[in-house]
Amino acid sequence: MLKPFQINEAEASGKLRELADKMMKTHTRALFQSDAQRFDRFHLSPDGLTFDYSKQRINEEVMNELVKLAEEADLKGAIESMFTGEKINFTEDRAVLHTALRGDTSKPLLHEGKDIMTDIQLVLDQMSAFSKNILSGDFAGFTGKRFKHVVNIGIGGSDLGPLMVCEALSGFSQGLKMHFVSNVDGADLANVLANVPADETLFIVVSKTFTTQETLANAAAAKNWLVQSLGNEAAVADHFAAVSTNIPAVEKFGISAMRTFGFWDWVGGRYSLWGAVGLSVMLSVGPENFKDLLRGARYADDHFRNTDFKKNVPVLMALLGIWNRNFLKMASHAVLPYSNNLRRLPAYLQQADMESNGKSSGRDGMRVKHETGPTIWGEPGTNGQHAFYQLLHQGTDIIPVDFIAYITPLSRFTDHHKKLLANCLAQSEAMMNGRSADEVRAMLSKQGMSENRIDEMLQHKVFEGNRPSNTLLFDELTPFSVGCLVSFYENKIFVQGVIWNMYSFDQWGVELGKELAMRILPAIEGGEVPPLDGSTNGLLQLILRC
Ligand code: F6P
Repeated sequence: MLKPFQINEAEASGKLRELADKMMKTHTRALFQSDAQRFDRFHLSPDGLTFDYSKQRINEEVMNELVKLAEEADLKGAIESMFTGEKINFTEDRAVLHTALRGDTSKPLLHEGKDIMTDIQLVLDQMSAFSKNILSGDFAGFTGKRFKHVVNIGIGGSDLGPLMVCEALSGFSQGLKMHFVSNVDGADLANVLANVPADETLFIVVSKTFTTQETLANAAAAKNWLVQSLGNEAAVADHFAAVSTNIPAVEKFGISAMRTFGFWDWVGGRYSLWGAVGLSVMLSVGPENFKDLLRGARYADDHFRNTDFKKNVPVLMALLGIWNRNFLKMASHAVLPYSNNLRRLPAYLQQADMESNGKSSGRDGMRVKHETGPTIWGEPGTNGQHAFYQLLHQGTDIIPVDFIAYITPLSRFTDHHKKLLANCLAQSEAMMNGRSADEVRAMLSKQGMSENRIDEMLQHKVFEGNRPSNTLLFDELTPFSVGCLVSFYENKIFVQGVIWNMYSFDQWGVELGKELAMRILPAIEGGEVPPLDGSTNGLLQLILRC
């Protein structure tokens, strides 16, 4: 089991607090100037990628103490607890075995006396056979037409993972057009239905619980639309498939067992894209590319499980995050992929990270006395540069950044790619180096600006710099490298949860809002108004008046 751990009381933390005081007064630019080997010292290059963390506000001493912190928290034991299927999701009394979904299915893994790898392989085989039949046209629509569109209906982990990966790997598409409907705002479904012909459209309803309000409302409306469009109830059998752990609810909805793809309670929704929840991904890129995605994640898992912490990418990502959050007191973290295909990665990581570690109760059931998960956000570069980077460069809060880039261009516009990479490198350089008042003065003076005007302008043009970033530079954007990237982030989140004394795999914080919506809905539908606070009641009355 995961041992209780209090970061504030750890021996390494005392030292880290002292080092943080020193580092607050140190500019990273000076660290580069005094150490020509800094990049060599603070980057890792496992196969196919480079993880550069030399622009973080760290030195060897900081890194040594962070590793000691991980050791004090018994991170090694925690990693083994997760991979071997101990019930580390304590509040839901479940194991956490999403890593098994991408594991080597020839190696048995016993969970409650049963080899789960056999079950995993069976579902993967079922998904492969189904995908091949859809892609070849052997499984056609009710009127005999080949499927051209797939609509994934799900929300949260049943949407963001498949959506993010389908977009990331759009270059590997096997020809089906993918659509995603998640929001209970009917405009989401209406917009998709307006653009797909019923006789060529396959719907996949994805819900771990098959009780989620948004998904059930969208699935029921899509089913009605299909039946009305094709004029026959029997069409549902050909046009609907489901992914769930709740098989009776799927049957009740009217989807046959043959078209239902199962998973297990030991897979958290936000960690589920590697199995049946990834059906849309497999339909989009085909079974072989899906297998490569799994292989990439497995490679990264093996690295995580077996590599010394000092050379371990997800462990270092996590420890640097803890350094920035708990010791340098930075409350937010931006993820900036320099790849338009990864535009949904920040949204995906918002759920993965903030639903996992956005908590204030420790594993001891007490309120924690330290900072936990930061706000995660981001947009692809270069778009973000023309929007919020102003604040990243000159705002009063310092926000650490992950830059993610690929050396090989994805499109035939290779000159664009050179510009993209130049921008990525330039941004991390600017954030770290900044531009001092002396440099600004010299620059403006060279441009011929008067001394008076320079005095007025100086402070506006100064960049303090010393804003930390990581750069994850991959050789290529492929199914393998995307699998690797996502596994790194998942395992980073796990490590942070261990050190923050969290249970990272539950999400009790989403329940209250769901319950209250169920209480307010009958009033909006014309029923009795429940007792409400003044503001909520005032807003409800405005809605009811229309
Ligand atoms: O409300 C949060 C949540 O439970 C997520 O954790 C989950 O990914 C999402 O809802 C969807 O749940 P389901 O797959 O059961 O529909």
